[in-house]
Formats: sequence, structure tokens, C-alpha cells
Amino acid sequence: MEYDDVVLGRRSIRGFKQEPVPKALIREVVEIAMRAPSSLNTQPWHLHAVTGEPLDRIRDGNTERNLAGVPDSREFRGHGGYKGDHRERQKRIAAQLFEAMGIDWGDKPRRQDWVLRGFRQFDAPVSIVVTYDRSIHGGDIAPFDCGAITNALVNAAWSRGLGCVINSQGIMQSPVVREHARIPDDEVIMICVAMGFPDDTFPANAVVSERKSVGEAVSFVGFPD
Ligand SMILES: Cc1cc2nc3c(=O)[nH]c(=O)nc-3n(C[C@H](O)[C@H](O)[C@H](O)COP(=O)(O)O)c2cc1C
Repeated sequence: MEYDDVVLGRRSIRGFKQEPVPKALIREVVEIAMRAPSSLNTQPWHLHAVTGEPLDRIRDGNTERNLAGVPDSREFRGHGGYKGDHRERQKRIAAQLFEAMGIDWGDKPRRQDWVLRGFRQFDAPVSIVVTYDRSIHGGDIAPFDCGAITNALVNAAWSRGLGCVINSQGIMQSPVVREHARIPDDEVIMICVAMGFPDDTFPANAVVSERKSVGEAVSFVGFPD
């Protein structure tokens, strides 16, 4: 696939075929993703590819603890709820997804079902948990580097026919993820990526999210008009 086809065609996938993903394909995708740049080429990331029973235990533990009201224990710093433009964009993507799925705003049980799907990492056959070395915890560069490899990962996966959704709901109960993905204590859990072959009949998979314009995003300085 051409670069533009990958980047412009990729979208988050939240419905997967219940078909295993070959380990060799994951290796191939990770090998491409690892060409991502990192600060001073430190490559502080680790990728934990989890499937089968351990992943089911993560889904179950994450869901049970969230439903029981156990507080969020994600290992990155939060910023409270989104406001202003950020909140509007958050509402817009939710509206697009709910419209595709035929979920009304007022339909609490179906909205709750959608949240639970997120806790289960959308029942994806594979989850890649992205972590970084605790020795550099506290600075902002390691999370930045993790963002770079995660973006490269979802694009590399797309180029090979795999779909992904980057999923912070799936790591809300980090002790569960740490235990069942066997993540050592000297790594910090950053995010997880739910991965598998897209189910093309799943309506939300067709949603194309919007972007602000280049004019809104870029300030050009010193360029001739
Ligand atoms: C850091 C991060 C966390 C995310 N967490 C979730 C999540 O918990 N649940 C979800 O459905 N999507 C999640 N997403 C996916 C975003 O909603 C999605 O990337 C965004 O709406 C743009 O849509 P696109 O990926 O289809 O272009 C996350 C994305 C990022 C980058």
C-alpha cells in the first residue's frame, strides 16, 4: 500500500473477526513500527502482545473492577475532564460512533454496553500493551516516544490488513494488566492497542473521524504569502 492510502484510509476498528492473528504477522508489523523515531534513539518502549486466556483474564478483571467502582489506576498523569473545543470533539466522535451503532443518547443500557466493550478491548483477539522503562519515568519524553511507536504500529497493522484501536479504557485497572500480561515492575504501562482482523459488518468500523483544518492546526511564520 502507498503511504497516503495507509494514513488516509486507516481508522479505528472496534469490531473484530474472531480469528487468531498469526504471531509472524505481529512480528512483521512490530518490525515496521520500530522504525519510529525516539529521543536520542533510546527506544524506551516495550510491547507485550497478549492473546488467548491471559487476554480474557485482563478483560474480565478490568470489567469486574470497573463495575465494582475500583478507581482508575492508569499509570499516566490525567488532566481531568476535557473542556471547550476538546470536549466538543470528544462529543462529536461519540455521536458519530453511536449514530453508526444505532445507539440513542437516552438509551443508558446500550451506552453502558458500549463502555463495557471498551473495557473488554472490543473483544479483539490481540492486545499490544505498550510500556516504557521506569528508569525514565517522570519526564514527558518517554510517553512521547510511546506515542510515536503506537502511531507507527496502528499504521503498519493497517498496511497488512489488520485493524486496531488505541484503547486507554483497556488499561484502567493496571494491576490486572500487569499481572496477566506479566509486565515487570521496572516498566510503566502507557497504553494498549486492541488488534485483529476487522469485521467489515460492524457498523462503527466505517466511521471516519473528523479533523480540524490545517489552518486551525498550523501557524506559518516567516513564509512568503
Ligand atoms: C491515547 C488514545 C487513547 C484512546 N482510547 C480510546 C478508548 O479508550 N476507547 C476508544 O473507543 N477509542 C480510543 N481511542 C481512539 C480514538 O477515539 C480515535 O483515535 C479518534 O477518535 C480518531 O479516530 P480514528 O482513530 O478512527 O482516526 C484512543 C486514542 C488514543 C490516541
